[in-house]
Amino acid sequence: MGVEFNPYDFHGVDADPYPAYARLREEAPVYRNEELGFWALSRHADVLAAFRDAARFSSVNGPLLEQRSWGPEARKALSFIAMDPPEHTRMRRLVSRAFTPRRIAELESGVRVIARRHIEAALERGEFDLVADIAAPLPTDVISELVGVPEESRAELRRLGDAALHREPGTHEISQEGATAILEMVGHFAEIVADRHRRRRDDLASALLDAAVDEDPLTDEEIIAFLHLLVGAGNETTTNLIGNAWYWAWRHPAQRAKAFEGRVADWVEETQRYDTAAPTQLRTLTEDVELHGTRLPSGGRVMLLPGAANRDPRVFERPEEYDLDRDTSEMLSFGSGPHFCLGAALARLEARVVLEEMVERVADFDLDPSAGARRHSIYIRGFASLPMTVTAR
Ligand code: HEM
Repeated sequence: MGVEFNPYDFHGVDADPYPAYARLREEAPVYRNEELGFWALSRHADVLAAFRDAARFSSVNGPLLEQRSWGPEARKALSFIAMDPPEHTRMRRLVSRAFTPRRIAELESGVRVIARRHIEAALERGEFDLVADIAAPLPTDVISELVGVPEESRAELRRLGDAALHREPGTHEISQEGATAILEMVGHFAEIVADRHRRRRDDLASALLDAAVDEDPLTDEEIIAFLHLLVGAGNETTTNLIGNAWYWAWRHPAQRAKAFEGRVADWVEETQRYDTAAPTQLRTLTEDVELHGTRLPSGGRVMLLPGAANRDPRVFERPEEYDLDRDTSEMLSFGSGPHFCLGAALARLEARVVLEEMVERVADFDLDPSAGARRHSIYIRGFASLPMTVTAR
């Protein structure tokens, strides 16, 4: 039988997409899903080339497959992840003036304080949910701190972010609740920007208002859409990276031993390669493209599968092995080319700090994935909950 790949298959694909990815790579490197209207690329060379070829593999219709979210309006809510150069270049350059490596590096001590607060509260109980109690609140707190979201709105923002990404099993569209959640989030950011117009603070929202004011200022709409993109792109991804790291260390005791001996940065990188939290990215073709003997028509939607590319045996030796000693530099979990993840340094910082802080305090742990649940989203891979018991040091 021919290969079938439905990213909404919440039982098969959510539980383990890798057998399907392997078949796609070997048997159908240019795969067509007629019902959902997309092509899929899974080989490392093809995914990489597409990421780097914004002229033919365009982002103008946004990164989301669902018909309600796909189209030229996507940028209104999702900013420059839904633009091509040169518009993308302008926005990303301006935003990068505020979202600087220095600003990110300066967050480390603050991230550590936040991480300790969540970890210590959880450890006191001995039994807790790694996702709900540590991995989910941490990135929201960090981005909120960075952006300038007031303390009292943070939990609400997290709830709205979850609602926006959640898809009920069996549905292929954003829910009404999800659409309302996006509008509410945008409302929160509009309030913050309006407030910073009156009074600047030491936060990203203020810095964005001051980015290139003399030559080419960002408009309020552009800033609001960018802040919304940051929350959408930076929360769930990092949460699931942290959850996936614990899960795979638990499944592989020898690798876990290496991680607990201080190889936390390698633990983060190999987890990203082995089981990326962001397994699908979408593009729209601007012209006909010929690939592996198949003609993909102009206007066609192409799903790039970095999760499949990360296990391509053409690039990675023994790709199905989780191994902290391997070279992960070719992994595509943060994309490549013009849209390469703007938050990569922040994601790495958050994951490293929280894992370091946990390793320091946890002598032994056990997970109960059967009592947990997987996240149901074609854009996010990981756990919605992961019950855990620990023995503290
Ligand atoms: C494990 C964590 C993360 C993963 C796996 C991840 C993955 C990605 C990927 C694959 C892209 C490229 C999308 C495309 O090509 O269409 C991307 C873009 C982006 N990411 Fe991340 N991300 C993570 C964390 C973050 C964080 C923490 C932030 C910010 C706080 C962030 C902000 C962004 C932004 C703004 C873009 C758009 C860049 C552009 O279009 O130029 N990400 N991310």
